[in-house]
Amino acid sequence: MTESESPEAVCDPGSDSADVVIVGAGPAGLVLGNILLSHGVDCVVLERAARDSVEGRARAGFLVPHTVRVLERNGLDTGIRRRGREHGVCEFRTEDGRFRLDYRLLGRGEPHTVYPQHDLVADLLDRYLDGGGRIRFGAEAVAVSDADGPTPAVTVREADGRPVLRRARYVAACDGRHGVGRRSLPPGAARHHRDHGVSWLGLLAEAPPSLDAVGYSVHPRGFAGHMARSADITRYYLQCAPGTRADAWSDDHVWGELALRMRASAYGPLVSGPIVRRAVVDLESDVIEPLRHGSLFLVGDAAALISPSAAKGANLAVLEAEILGHALVDDLVHGDPRALDRYSERCLAHIWRAQEFSRWMIRLLHELPDPGGDSLFRERLRYARLAALRDSASAQHWFAENYVGI
Ligand code: APR
Repeated sequence: MTESESPEAVCDPGSDSADVVIVGAGPAGLVLGNILLSHGVDCVVLERAARDSVEGRARAGFLVPHTVRVLERNGLDTGIRRRGREHGVCEFRTEDGRFRLDYRLLGRGEPHTVYPQHDLVADLLDRYLDGGGRIRFGAEAVAVSDADGPTPAVTVREADGRPVLRRARYVAACDGRHGVGRRSLPPGAARHHRDHGVSWLGLLAEAPPSLDAVGYSVHPRGFAGHMARSADITRYYLQCAPGTRADAWSDDHVWGELALRMRASAYGPLVSGPIVRRAVVDLESDVIEPLRHGSLFLVGDAAALISPSAAKGANLAVLEAEILGHALVDDLVHGDPRALDRYSERCLAHIWRAQEFSRWMIRLLHELPDPGGDSLFRERLRYARLAALRDSASAQHWFAENYVGI
C-alpha cells in the first residue's frame, strides 16, 4: 500500500525538489546518479547511512564484462582499470575428482573482473560528488506517495530528525529489498519469491587466495566455496543448516571444515588467516513485477533479490541503473518517454535469465531439501550434471556464456 505522507512533513521547494529523487547509494543508485548528472538531469541521492558506512560495506566483487563496459561507457572505470584483476578459471571438486574450466576460452571468451564492491562504491561516490552531485547522508526515506501522478513525493527523515517532503518528477528506488520503494508499491504489484532451502556461512578471511580459480567443492558434508577478493583477502562459503548462527563455529572449526570439504589432503592446503567477517545468508530469490509503478521505478535489489550462487546481484544492479538512467535522459532531456515505458520489460528479461542460471548453480552445488522425493535419484542427477560440465564442450560453452553473461 502507498504509505500516506507524514502530516508534519514540510516541503522546502528551494533545496528539496529535483527531477529525480534516487533512494539509496549502493551500486544501483550511484551508477544512476552519475549517468543523470553527466547528462545534466537534476537529481538528488538520499542515503540513510553515513558515508563511511556506505564505503565500508564488504559485499560482492565479481564483475561481468557487461558491468565493466557500462562503467567504461559512462566514464566510471578509473578505479577498476587501475586495480581490477581479470579472472577466468573455476575449479569444481567432487567425489569423482576435480576439473577446471578456463571460461575465458569458452562461450564469448570473456573473463570476470575482480574488484571489491566497496572500492567501486567509493569510486562512484567520488565521481558523483566531484561532478557536483547532490547527496544527503543520514537521510532516510520513510514513504513514497503520489507515485501514480506526475509529482511523486518522498517523505524523508533528515539526519537531524526533521521530516522533509521532497517532490520530484520521478523516484528511483535503489534502496534494496527492505527499502521504502518496495513498501510503497500499489496493490497490483506482484512479488515472486523462492526460498532455495540452502544457507551459507559467508566468511571473509585475511588470507591470500588458496587457489588460482574460483573453487566450488561438492561434498557429502555440504558445499564449500572459495573466491579471491584481493591479493590478501579471500571469501569462503560453507553450506550450513538454516538457522545456524554466524558465530556458531570457531575459526579453527571453520578452517578444519573448509579443508575437509575442499579436499585439501588431496589437492593442497588452504592458506588460513584471521576470519574478519562472518554472516549467514539464506539463499533466496525474489522478483517484483512490474518494475515501474507510475513515477516510481525499482532498481537493483529493490527490483529483484538474487542468491549469491552466481554472483549476479551487483551486475544486475548496474545493468538496470544504466537502462533507467538513459531512459530518464531520453524523457527528461529529449522528451521521449518510450524507453521509460520499456524499462520494466527490458530489465525483467535479464533478471529472469540471471535467476534461472542462479537456480541452476544452486541445484548443481547442493543437495536440496525435497521431502517427497528420492534423494539418491536427485544426487545421481546432480553428479550427471557435473559430469556433463566436465566432459561436454557444448555444456561448457553454455556454462561460460551464462557465468559471465548478464
Ligand atoms: N532511505 C535511504 N536509503 C536507504 C533506505 C531508505 N529507506 N533503505 C535502504 N537504503 C540504502 C542502504 O543504506 C544502501 O546503501 O540503499 C542502499 C541500497 O544499496 P544495496 O543494498 O547495495 O543495493 P543495490 O544498489 O541494489 O545493489 C545490489 O549490490 O550490495 C550488493 O550484491 C549486492 O545484490 C546486491 C547489489
